[in-house]
Amino acid sequence: MKLGDIQLSSNLLTSPMCGISNRPFRLLAKRFGSALTYVEMLKARSVIERTPRTMELLRYYADEKPLGAQLAGSEPQELAEAAKIVEDLGFDTIDFNCGCPAGRVGHGLCGARIMSKPNIARECMRALRAAVKVPVTVKFRAGMDDTALNYLEFGRIAQEEGMAWVTMHPRTRAQGYKGGADHRRTAELKASIRIPVNASGDVTEPEHALAIARDHGIDGVMIGRGIYGRPWLYRRILAAQAGESESDPTPREVLAVLRWHFERLLEVFRPRLACIMQRRYSGWYIKAVPGAASWRAAFVTVETPEEFFTRWKAVDDHYAGLEAAGKIAAASPGRLASYAEPFPLPTPRTLGDNAPLSGQSLVAATA
Ligand SMILES: Cc1cc2nc3c(=O)[nH]c(=O)nc-3n(C[C@H](O)[C@H](O)[C@H](O)COP(=O)(O)O)c2cc1C
Repeated sequence: MKLGDIQLSSNLLTSPMCGISNRPFRLLAKRFGSALTYVEMLKARSVIERTPRTMELLRYYADEKPLGAQLAGSEPQELAEAAKIVEDLGFDTIDFNCGCPAGRVGHGLCGARIMSKPNIARECMRALRAAVKVPVTVKFRAGMDDTALNYLEFGRIAQEEGMAWVTMHPRTRAQGYKGGADHRRTAELKASIRIPVNASGDVTEPEHALAIARDHGIDGVMIGRGIYGRPWLYRRILAAQAGESESDPTPREVLAVLRWHFERLLEVFRPRLACIMQRRYSGWYIKAVPGAASWRAAFVTVETPEEFFTRWKAVDDHYAGLEAAGKIAAASPGRLASYAEPFPLPTPRTLGDNAPLSGQSLVAATA
């Protein structure tokens, strides 16, 4: 699948998600086969003001590329200015957010609320497209509510304004995340325009991704919540696309991923914050292992990295013992290594083109 001139490794994308799409999360997704990840949605104004939080969110590892940024706003000139800044930082693509239902963003006319003003959305797309050379895309919902479904109109506008693709999360703004993501709507959109269409929403198993392409002819699949604690979903989908199957990981493979994830958190965040964030993520991973409730107690109270690694080893030893006794299936050494081995990034890790922003090395930035 191509995004403008960029050849992507597959049609599997990772959703931008506020509070979630940080560097470790994006690396994890890429490691397991996501072709493109995004930094979480940023308000155009915050980018222009270069607020410290925004600039921190815009940091990335050089190895993450291709990498997208997503902008929200409703002032064409503001969006254009922000897009230029983001392009200059080295981002490969810019997505225009017309899908966020949240109050915080929705207070102004941005996020999904802009779907009520298609002409303003058109102006914004036009300004974005004119401001940068990288491909510009748009992500939207089905409409404001069931009485105002205008996704076909949005698709047409996007095509007319030169968007490289559109991504649709087929719930309405009013729905939030309730109900199901009805990809018959996404299929209808696909049938109505010539630019590529990606489906976002409720892909949690390889079969869902296959069905979206097979039954609906949709180009790409963007996954968000489905990879919470299960980033290997990409690997399973890629196997299914090749007519093969990849089983779910064993407990020790899941533990290997948890450890890798924690090590990346330690690279990016202060140790105390990494430990607190890990509590949430270990909860996600626990769900992937039947009967693993005892892990929860071990990890959700972790205060220091040392505690994490000691407890991790105890839990891993426990499962190694069960494997040795033939009580649970053992992972094949090759596959365990592929879950455990660090993603092959250069050492020391390098920051992307935006590194000079703060003039700090990664180590200094995370100390
Ligand atoms: C915590 C959270 C944060 C999100 N933040 C964003 C965002 O920054 N930009 C965006 O376009 N969509 C955002 N979304 C929506 C997702 O990108 C995606 O469209 C939606 O969750 C449906 O896909 P899923 O079922 O695969 O999660 C967010 C969703 C969640 C759950």
